[in-house]
Amino acid sequence: MAVQKVDEDVYYVGSRHWDRPIFDELLELPKGTSYNSYLISGSQKTALIDSVDPCKKHELLRNLDVLNVKNIDYIIANHAEQDHSGSIPAVLERYPQAKVVTNEKCKSLLIDLLDINEDRFMIINDNDTLSLGDKTLQFVFTPWVHWPETMSVYLVEKKMLFTCDFFGSHIATSKIFGPKDEKLVYEGAKRYYAEIMMPFRKNIQKNIQKVEELNPSMILPGHGVVYKNPQFIIDAYKKWISDNVDNEALIIYISMHGSTKELVDYLSDALIEQGVYARPYNIAQSSLGEIAMDLVDAATVIFASPFVLAGVHPKIITTAYLANALRPKTKFAGIIGSFGWGGKGVEHIKNNLTNLSVELFEPVYIKGKPKPEDFKKITGLAQQIADKHKEIGILG
Ligand code: FEO
Repeated sequence: MAVQKVDEDVYYVGSRHWDRPIFDELLELPKGTSYNSYLISGSQKTALIDSVDPCKKHELLRNLDVLNVKNIDYIIANHAEQDHSGSIPAVLERYPQAKVVTNEKCKSLLIDLLDINEDRFMIINDNDTLSLGDKTLQFVFTPWVHWPETMSVYLVEKKMLFTCDFFGSHIATSKIFGPKDEKLVYEGAKRYYAEIMMPFRKNIQKNIQKVEELNPSMILPGHGVVYKNPQFIIDAYKKWISDNVDNEALIIYISMHGSTKELVDYLSDALIEQGVYARPYNIAQSSLGEIAMDLVDAATVIFASPFVLAGVHPKIITTAYLANALRPKTKFAGIIGSFGWGGKGVEHIKNNLTNLSVELFEPVYIKGKPKPEDFKKITGLAQQIADKHKEIGILG
């Protein structure tokens, strides 16, 4: 908890979650996260922009006490997911005259998720404005970043854009405008994008134009830091959502008795020799968050697994499923591994990659420990990867 002044009449009243270990029970949060809520005082009306995760509602209420907020007229709900909306019922109870201002889709979700009474809502449409007296809020619908109802709100006079999840970053920091080391912010935002936004890349391509047209002076997301230099995060997003990929090959592997690892090590070296940036991840020990972040830009992904229980290792299937759900812009994929007495596996992986528009290399599956002819096949695979990277102009 800590109230912080963002600008005249605009306060941060959200909450840092320094030690949250994992988001959506899926990806790790090495730097924690935050749930950002902002209070805007107009000459006639007061608005709260989003709330906080319900586990932190006491902090939000205390922040409002610190500012001695006697009245809230409008609670702007940019997004219905509970890490932003979950404390709205508590704010409504504290301020009985307050209305939840949102779009029709968000209202419906909030009723389903939080059981908020229908008569507490005020519905707005895209580009509608709402006066706070000397300040004006403009609603900017940004659907599918990352739910159907997601929107932003623009404080017209100050050119401040409150974007909720859009441009959010997983970082808890005392510095509302971020630490000096921009790399920390960049990585926190990329981690956020990788898990939450990447599947909606095409929708973001449309919505980011609306943001650029507004030319905001500041972007204030629902997670992480406030951007005083919006171009920093807009440019980062433009790179991530573009169709351009980097000269990288992720090798997601697991190995039980060492044969698959030998193939992976050989492939990594062969790729490096070819000028391709190789990044092997042993899924038995690796962070799914790091893999998701690398999937944002990598041109190629290779899955490497032994056969176990008459099929591909379940941890590789889980990771393939995740990669498929995240829909990265990866252009090429491969499958390699080793088996002892048999089993079926290649189809298991292929069937979990149906969302990816990838060109699949010929799988390299070998029996037992790799032999010279197997390494030759791996050298051939590295050559094919390098050739494809050259073909699309990312390897000179
Ligand atoms: Fe940060 Fe979609 O919630």
